[in-house]
Amino acid sequence: MQVIESVEEMQTVAMQLRFGGHLIGLVPTMGNLHEGHLSLIKQAKEKSDKVIVSIFVNPKQFGPNEDFDEYPRTWKEDLKKCEENGVDIVFHPSVEAMFPKDFSSYLTEEVVSSVMCGVSRPSHFKGVTTVCLKLFNLVRPDFSFFGQKDAQQCAVIKKMVRDLNIPTEIKVGETVREPDGLALSSRNQYLSKLQREDALSISKALLKAKELVDSGIKNTDRIIAEIIHLLSQKRRIRVIYVQVVDKDSMQAVKTISSNQTLACVAVWVDDVRLIDNIVF
Ligand code: PAJ
Repeated sequence: MQVIESVEEMQTVAMQLRFGGHLIGLVPTMGNLHEGHLSLIKQAKEKSDKVIVSIFVNPKQFGPNEDFDEYPRTWKEDLKKCEENGVDIVFHPSVEAMFPKDFSSYLTEEVVSSVMCGVSRPSHFKGVTTVCLKLFNLVRPDFSFFGQKDAQQCAVIKKMVRDLNIPTEIKVGETVREPDGLALSSRNQYLSKLQREDALSISKALLKAKELVDSGIKNTDRIIAEIIHLLSQKRRIRVIYVQVVDKDSMQAVKTISSNQTLACVAVWVDDVRLIDNIVF
């Protein structure tokens, strides 16, 4: 397994692979790899013959009061997991390499990213689209793998790829969960035992919502009310948003009419921000 830190080297090596006829799969991550990331790596290995994992805690997608400094950095463990899972190249650039001091070009998707997390984290998606565009330009992957756990991120990236004719195919992997239902997230490790107990109500509320939909309830106000009701029973939870939206546009829907609809939740569990979603 090769580790590349320089952006120029990454671009050259990826170009050589492409000219050599290899199909390249890219899995962008911020490290602290867990089974959610590893499931994307496995899918990348199935679809492509060279798998590149980027590990870069992207400062541009954290707001001024967010957890950029505290974000868990577990380089040695991540490297071992990549090796064990058959990754070909780990791209691990420094912040200065990706965003030199005079960096001044950003990419903004204006519609899909304007709701939900786009409201509560105003510059977040601009940071995500900008770093992903850079990664796509450096690696030129045939396939790029993202997790359904971050449903809005998937929709924003898909929209940007479509709008700008970026030559990569976006593949979305299912959310990997703990046995009790909690969606895996690097931020779960911030949770105390009691906070984790309360956090479990997120996936429980989403499952309950799915039960309601399966039992024939199609009115999304009713579904949202039920999710908020279940979450608000937990002392440590403050709801940031609960929305039922179209999978591609992320715009709110009033009635569930297809399997293109999902419920998305963002909450604070005390000072830990968690998101999750369920497809109906
Ligand atoms: P990060 O949070 O490290 O996640 C990397 C990828 O893993 C994302 O596509 C995310 O959706 C996916 N992922 C996280 N938890 C998952 C789970 N429980 N099941 C399945 N997939 C999961 O998302 C980012 O990094 C960044 O925004 C990034 C795209 C790398 C841009 O900086």
